[in-house]
Amino acid sequence: MTVTRRQLGALVGAALLGPALPARPASAAAWKLMWAPDPAAVGLGAFETIEDDRADSHPAGQPHIYVEGDAFRFNMHTVDRDTSTDRQRQEVTGTRNPDGYLRWLAGETWRVTYSMYIPSSLKATTTFTHISQTKMPGTGTSPITVTSLRRVNGVQTIEHKIFESDTLVGRTELEPLHDKWIDAEYEIKIGDGSSGSVRWVLRSGGVTLVDATKTGDTFLGDRVRPKRGIYRSLGDTSGSLQNCYLLLRNMRAYKQVQAAVTRLEAEDATISQGVVESNHAGFSGTGFVNTDNAAGAYVEWRHDAAAAGPATLTVRYANGTSADRPADLAVNGRVVASGLPFPGTGAWTSWASRSVSADLAAGTNTIRLTAATAGGCPNLDYLEVLR
Ligand code: GCU
Ligand code: CA
Repeated sequence: MTVTRRQLGALVGAALLGPALPARPASAAAWKLMWAPDPAAVGLGAFETIEDDRADSHPAGQPHIYVEGDAFRFNMHTVDRDTSTDRQRQEVTGTRNPDGYLRWLAGETWRVTYSMYIPSSLKATTTFTHISQTKMPGTGTSPITVTSLRRVNGVQTIEHKIFESDTLVGRTELEPLHDKWIDAEYEIKIGDGSSGSVRWVLRSGGVTLVDATKTGDTFLGDRVRPKRGIYRSLGDTSGSLQNCYLLLRNMRAYKQVQAAVTRLEAEDATISQGVVESNHAGFSGTGFVNTDNAAGAYVEWRHDAAAAGPATLTVRYANGTSADRPADLAVNGRVVASGLPFPGTGAWTSWASRSVSADLAAGTNTIRLTAATAGGCPNLDYLEVLR
């Protein structure tokens, strides 16, 4: 698993605390993966509740919500009716794991990523068409946030709003996104008034179309629960309502956690074929390790872990050449990243970071970086363990 730019940002943020930071845990924000359902394996068990034609308006069309390949599929027929008959609803709620559903609480920050396929039959309308909401569980309250397909001056758009204050987080044209997989990212900081915020990102073919953050009230009471599927008004006046569907796949939910960062200076580690130097500025601690230009040269750090579990390992390095200096990263003798690239950083005084996820054991762990080629390792400043 590669580390996101945000996690790296947090790590760099910790690094900015400066050379004086001792080798004790500091704290940094990190994203912990909480939910990653495999549709084929868990089916609709991925969700807390299923609202498949809850008014039983169209038995012949049931199930409207089911697994198709690696995706969750939501069918909507023009004849489908919700309990309020001026609208239609085929939705699932929540994020459920085999051991129970997740509770998104005030003060927490959650991130959801997924891919979605909106066919051209699922059109934007003049009245509401929501394809994703967050809500407080229970009936009778308004949504907290909504992703909607809305006609704006006749143009089909997809937008995200904080509902109560009608705060537009972002909006882009829908038609170019029809009939293809697009990627969405949604982040909600759950809080009352200005302590809440939402970030909404939409990408198509690797191009970022929207990446916007807005402050606003994201907490009504109890907890926040996502809803997905199709929930739309029949009041559309643009003739856009037809049989349609929505596909969702690669669904992930992450919770922001405070992770401990332990910095281990290279100059304090075990060195094989190398020396400690300090002639290139910008290092933390008292220096860095310059390994010999030889394959097999290594630096080995020791880290005591209270419990077994995943960690993010970040190596800070400089490579003043234009050639890569690949190295193998091994944890407790097992290579977890083979030929990890350490490309040129422009100068020996320009330091960069490279991160890898790996499992640590309870007790003392050895983390060894060994030069894979005759160039040796890059100059090594420190290893940071985030977990
Ligand atoms: C230079 C540089 C060293 C570096 C070495 C190398 O000698 O000053 O810091 O380790 O190149 O190519 O490995
Ligand atoms: Ca060297």
